[in-house]
Amino acid sequence: MRILVTGGAGFIGSAVVRLAVSRGHAVVNVDKLTYAACEANLASVAGSPSYAFAQVDICDRAGLDAVFAQHAPDAVMHLAAENHVDRSIDGPGDFIETNITGTYTMLEAARAYWTKAGKPEAFRFHHISTDEVFGSLPDDPEVMFTEDTGYDPRSPYSASKAASDHLVSAWHHTYGLPVVMTNCSNNYGPFHFPEKLIPVVILRALAGEEIPVYGQGQNVRDWLFVEDHADALLTVLEKGALGRTYNIGGENEAKNIDIVRSICAILDAKRPKNHPYADQIAFVTDRPGHDMRYAIDPTRIRDELGWRPSVTLQEGLERTVDWYLENEDWWRALQGRDGVGKRLGAA
Ligand SMILES: NC(=O)c1ccc[n+]([C@@H]2O[C@H](COP(=O)([O-])OP(=O)(O)OC[C@H]3O[C@@H](n4cnc5c(N)ncnc54)[C@H](O)[C@@H]3O)[C@@H](O)[C@H]2O)c1
Repeated sequence: MRILVTGGAGFIGSAVVRLAVSRGHAVVNVDKLTYAACEANLASVAGSPSYAFAQVDICDRAGLDAVFAQHAPDAVMHLAAENHVDRSIDGPGDFIETNITGTYTMLEAARAYWTKAGKPEAFRFHHISTDEVFGSLPDDPEVMFTEDTGYDPRSPYSASKAASDHLVSAWHHTYGLPVVMTNCSNNYGPFHFPEKLIPVVILRALAGEEIPVYGQGQNVRDWLFVEDHADALLTVLEKGALGRTYNIGGENEAKNIDIVRSICAILDAKRPKNHPYADQIAFVTDRPGHDMRYAIDPTRIRDELGWRPSVTLQEGLERTVDWYLENEDWWRALQGRDGVGKRLGAA
């Protein structure tokens, strides 16, 4: 298959590109290269004849039209987005522009290309979204997000992603564009940009600095190893029913404070210091509007597509810590980028 991936220089997009190329697909990666992009994530595929790169903003219709015409994709996997909740609190404008206008522009470029090609039934526009569009859950293990949960986004980030989901659904119902959609839980793993919780914890711990935990660390997330997510996305692209949405979870619910303590314990074993790393934990002012709990009911993707995550939380955290210990050049190069290492979104 020839796949146009947007946001392929980011954390999840690059995992998708690496996996797709390794499985024999041809990929063109459309990425603006924002602060969150890292071309080093694609070093393993950069020389492959199955990989091409186009530095294009997804809001640039003419640029997108040229990519569609040149590469004639069989499918689109749309991951490009502004993606950090704390940054969306300080500056929502980029989120409205990329996540809403950018998705609208992608849909229109894809629709024009698909229409000109005679509306092939096999074409797919796969929109990748988040479980944050569903809002916040109570502390009750019986209650989880399903595909029928009503939308209730509560941050500028999740509201912009919710808007993009509605646009994709509308383009399917109104114009017949062949779409599939996925909403997934928090990802973690290798190549995770060093402003997100898990890399922040690892790198602050190693630096001997305070490890900041928002509020009392009681917020619950369902953690999904990024390589499992990439595998789930290709499964949905290849086997998902037309117009259908699938939730993707890690079956790994954990409180933030427990994630932080687990990482500290792994580091105590792998890189011992003269004190336990957990001594560096510091509780800091909570994020405004911080959603308390996200949890995915994975029944649909499991029963209909036979997909389940393969990596347990403990195994995934160990692999992630190992990767950061072995790839210091990668993360040191990103630590100088704008906003990295600073407290954002506390307003
Ligand atoms: N990270 C998570 O835990 C998570 C969870 C659920 C869903 N998602 C979704 O998955 C997708 C990818 O997330 P990620 O964590 O890999 O993000 P990321 O921030 O690591 O990467 C985003 C990529 O998109 C590119 N980009 C941003 N604006 C662009 C624009 N206007 N035009 C072209 N490219 C642009 C960036 O340069 C970057 O390479 C997003 O749509 C996000 O909403 C992420």
